[in-house]
Amino acid sequence: MIGRLNHVAIVVPDLEAGAALYRDTLGATVSPPQGLPEHGVTVVFVELPNTKIELLEVLGEDSAIASFLERNPNGGIHHICYEVDDILKARDKLIEKGARVLGSGEPKIGAHGKPVLFLHPKDFVGTLVELEQV
Ligand code: CO
Repeated sequence: MIGRLNHVAIVVPDLEAGAALYRDTLGATVSPPQGLPEHGVTVVFVELPNTKIELLEVLGEDSAIASFLERNPNGGIHHICYEVDDILKARDKLIEKGARVLGSGEPKIGAHGKPVLFLHPKDFVGTLVELEQV
């Protein structure tokens, strides 16, 4: 069902500093920041040859990553994203197998303009999993 690793997302307390670390210290290509108010994050993409790293910073009052940052004030890995061909088919199959889909269960449009869903970390060995239809 799952295909390529689309990205690994890392929450950072300071997006400027996080972007500079990846650009200047690690020598990667980093996109300009993009605000996603509906997700409560500002994001930059680190483009790697085989995948992407997303750096996420809190945006606004009730950000989905605010509590994560409270627990991990220095930042940390927040989720991993796998590609799927058909997100609704994937969702229904996973629900059938007993996995929990977060939120309403309906896909939202994610940072890349594609439908995404999140799966409960307790059902996936302690890892928040994002599915993105490509
Ligand atoms: Co993501």
